[in-house]
Amino acid sequence: MLILPLIILASAVAPTTTAHRMMIRHGPDIHSKLFQQDKPSVAARALTQSSSTIYSAPYRTARLSYSNFTYSFPVTSGQKFIRLYFYPTSYEQGFDRSKAFFSVTSDAFTLLKDFNASLTADADDDPRGTIFREYCINIDDGQRLNLTFSPSTIQPDFYAFINGIQMLSMPTHLYYTNSESAGFKLLGSTVHFHIANNSALQTEYRLNVGGNDILPKNDTGLLRYWETFITYLRTTGGVTVDYSGSLRFQITQRRIQYTEKHGLWHTMRLGNSPLILALPTCLRFIFARLPQKSTP
Ligand SMILES: *[C@@H]1O[C@H](CO)[C@@H](O)[C@H](O)[C@H]1NC(C)=O
Ligand SMILES: *[C@@H]1O[C@H](CO)[C@@H](O)[C@H](O)[C@H]1NC(C)=O
Ligand SMILES: *[C@@H]1O[C@H](CO)[C@@H](O)[C@H](O)[C@H]1NC(C)=O
Ligand SMILES: *[C@@H]1O[C@H](CO)[C@@H](O)[C@H](O)[C@H]1NC(C)=O
Ligand SMILES: *[C@@H]1O[C@H](CO)[C@@H](O)[C@H](O)[C@H]1NC(C)=O
Repeated sequence: MLILPLIILASAVAPTTTAHRMMIRHGPDIHSKLFQQDKPSVAARALTQSSSTIYSAPYRTARLSYSNFTYSFPVTSGQKFIRLYFYPTSYEQGFDRSKAFFSVTSDAFTLLKDFNASLTADADDDPRGTIFREYCINIDDGQRLNLTFSPSTIQPDFYAFINGIQMLSMPTHLYYTNSESAGFKLLGSTVHFHIANNSALQTEYRLNVGGNDILPKNDTGLLRYWETFITYLRTTGGVTVDYSGSLRFQITQRRIQYTEKHGLWHTMRLGNSPLILALPTCLRFIFARLPQKSTP
């Protein structure tokens, strides 16, 4: 079984701890058991320093290759949350920033296709920014979780790279629909939807409604980035309520220690003033389907 909140640094640096996370290195052990490559890949240091204020460790080194390489993790069956860390810059040993152009697949799923990480970072006006991408994949009994990085073959000097991989087991049916349940209906639709476990999911947005950005180091331990909601809200009415310290949590004992102190739960947005709750109005959020933003 995979030990969970670890981050695997895809490069040969010493294990290190940042943001309370033990980061293990891609060393000789991983090489033999978890790693396959067509031709030798290299571990190299970044030529610039990332602007990430959260944790710099995953972004100092990367594993890079002009041909396919695969990480193959023996995991328990069930749903896995996977986060891939990228720092688009030039790396030692001649890896130019503009030549990173690749896809990432996990068996049948294409997680990233013709991915140009620097384009994504530049689009945000933060060329030294880092990027992470998050997915959820279901693993059946006896399967391994494979991640294959394959450089585009359009040009021989295009390469693939990865700075870090993080993987967690998820509670069953947190995001996927239980096959025994009737599923859910979208507003205005009569059709029931299921998210079956033969789909892979990708994070598009994660909002802290009513509050500000929550940086990964201030998350409940999963290093998630919660973006403030305000730019997505399209209704003018409504109020933001901050009830820090005044709320009695009505959640189970088991969860309370985990969430009670967390800022995420201290704010909410109401469609109407609490005094006229009897007349609720709707809250409308609009999300564009854009390439994901880089994160701080
Ligand atoms: C995935 O879904 C199928 C069909 O509902 C079910 O038989 C199988 O056990 C599920 N696998 C896991 C790992 O939950
Ligand atoms: C990736 O995007 C950058 C722009 O940020 C560009 O300079 C570079 O040529 C692109 N690389 C490829 C392989 O398309
Ligand atoms: C993952 O990789 C292993 C080892 O190469 C392979 O045997 C397996 O078929 C791949 N796919 C899955 C889903 O386990
Ligand atoms: C590299 O991986 C991609 C995606 O899995 C695959 O389509 C391609 O055939 C692989 N290339 C080689 C040389 O094995
Ligand atoms: C985030 O965490 C840091 C300590 O790591 C703390 O100093 C800071 O106040 C926290 N910020 C928020 C908004 O909670």
